[in-house]
Amino acid sequence: MKIAVLPGDGIGPEIVAQAVKVLEALRSDGLKIELEYAHLGGAGYDAAGDPFPPATEKLALAADAVLLGAVGGYQYDTLPRPMRPEQGLLRIRKGLELFANLRPALVYPELANASSLKPELVAGLDIMILRELTGDIYFGQPRGIRTMDSGERQGFDTMLYSESEIRRVAHVGFQIALKRGKKLCSVDKANVLDTSMFWREIVTEVAKEYPLVALSHMYVDNAAMQLVRAPKQFDVILTGNIFGDILSDEASMLTGSIGMLPSASLDAHNKGLYEPCHGSAPDIAGKDIANPLATILSVAMMMRHTFAHEDIARRIEAAVRKVLQQGLRTGDIYEAGMQKVGTIAMGDAVVAAL
Ligand code: IPM
Ligand code: MG
Repeated sequence: MKIAVLPGDGIGPEIVAQAVKVLEALRSDGLKIELEYAHLGGAGYDAAGDPFPPATEKLALAADAVLLGAVGGYQYDTLPRPMRPEQGLLRIRKGLELFANLRPALVYPELANASSLKPELVAGLDIMILRELTGDIYFGQPRGIRTMDSGERQGFDTMLYSESEIRRVAHVGFQIALKRGKKLCSVDKANVLDTSMFWREIVTEVAKEYPLVALSHMYVDNAAMQLVRAPKQFDVILTGNIFGDILSDEASMLTGSIGMLPSASLDAHNKGLYEPCHGSAPDIAGKDIANPLATILSVAMMMRHTFAHEDIARRIEAAVRKVLQQGLRTGDIYEAGMQKVGTIAMGDAVVAAL
């Protein structure tokens, strides 16, 4: 298992260090794990003047899987756009063709009170958002800021999806649904956007190959509402890049702690980049208070999706459940009566539970 480790910025290095402890524990159990480090994001800019340096690209391309912390920091906010940390993230997604982004929103029974919604609305919640990650208005050309004949300036972007892009992510969606509750809700804005009309047409066509999966369609505004009204109606949500960006942030908060949510971004051969859903949280970096569980759970997703080790994935997930049951909490998920621990102590506890 060749794993490229990209700690990134902010809390990235601290949380990745805990996930690496988990990988090292698995290695001492006999798994053949090779770890190699490189820079991404602001760390790439600082080390090599590029948020996605060539050395990082080379390592990531050669690896079976990539473990990423997070990117971004205040000191990079004023850089020209190509140098900003987020560009590193977008380029690694595109460069590795990681088109299928899995973002689970799972409520742990131990943390049901952490949600801003009533506990009965979210207890037992288990949604998988599948976000297309390498197309849409994120990458569509042309884009820019232009001056029209009238002299007025105008900003523009292009939303587009080609048939093959929709088809391949739809297949992933139906396959995930088959392994879960067999319900797929495709989210679009087909009442307004041609891109979405086309999306809906292709998803409906692909559905014919999956008679066991119940397909529904929903407009994105309604989906945003339904997610806070009755989130348990969803099993798998399939959507494009920009709608998925927005809905996955919304869904993460249903669980109460974005610090708990892992993600996987997969190519067509199950190579993947694994990262927590949360950002680099520069305000708490270096203080040993960040929650490492989303990153550790990302390692579980890596074992499941890239290395087809469902048993090890479950073992990691069970270890995380166990530390929650023991009452250990980082600040973001702390409640009275629990034991507050730091990043490192939380990592150690997971390794012990493992
Ligand atoms: C995410 C983030 C990124 C995105 C940013 C940092 C470019 O919001 O992974 O959801 O918009 O995809
Ligand atoms: Mg986002």
